[in-house]
Amino acid sequence: MGGTRGFGVDIGGSGIKGCVVDLEVGRLDGERVRIDTPSPSKPELVADVVAEIVEGFGWTGPVGVTLPAVVKRGTALTAANIDKSWIGTDAVKVFTKRLGRKPGDVVVLNDADAAGMAEIRYGWPGDRDGVVVLLTFGTGIGSALFLDGKLVPNTEFGHLEVDGHDAETRAAASVKEENGLSWEEWAHRVSRYIRSLEDLIWPDLIIAGGGVSKKADKWLPLLDVRTKVVAAELRNDAGIVGAAVAAALNVEP
Ligand code: BGC
Repeated sequence: MGGTRGFGVDIGGSGIKGCVVDLEVGRLDGERVRIDTPSPSKPELVADVVAEIVEGFGWTGPVGVTLPAVVKRGTALTAANIDKSWIGTDAVKVFTKRLGRKPGDVVVLNDADAAGMAEIRYGWPGDRDGVVVLLTFGTGIGSALFLDGKLVPNTEFGHLEVDGHDAETRAAASVKEENGLSWEEWAHRVSRYIRSLEDLIWPDLIIAGGGVSKKADKWLPLLDVRTKVVAAELRNDAGIVGAAVAAALNVEP
């Protein structure tokens, strides 16, 4: 992998988090830094925050960056929870320039895909076979689909229409906060969402990630779904770790 350390930055709708990553074990190497996502979250403003984080660590190597968006060949194609001006933006170009890196040193990928790559690589070794879906519950709902450990990039299962609603507007973790839902009420919504997803893709395993995976014991037991659901082993750090891996391997899903 050309070194045992990498760097990942995970851009979310509310916070931008980054850290050096130990690529041998797939864990953060030190304390991660989190800065609020600028408002508006326009590319140049976000790039300034990314640079602040990377430079704060004195990091000069390759950098992996996640976006909460469909990303193809480095260009963002959607923007559900970030500024709409990201749509059509060559994110690799923006970050490469702002970070003063050479071409190939910066990789940009979808946040859930990055988290899934980290989980598949470093988490639950016995559970990688078959159809595995990682779902991240945060500002929105992100998804990463794997078949026998291989990523099918840019699935957007968080936008599945359930009971006439975009699923993430009913079952994201942010909706629990905004509406003061109890764990039971929220788990009921998540179950409804997962059952719709299950009917379409019949996964063998679902990995639940995002900030609320830290409190998995409060809601995973309340789920009423067919598929086995486990908490992401890397919890909310999976995006940072996956971004660092993608940059170190120079893979752009
Ligand atoms: C976006 C996805 C993203 C997810 C989690 C959704 O609104 O469409 O691309 O992975 O939020 O951030």
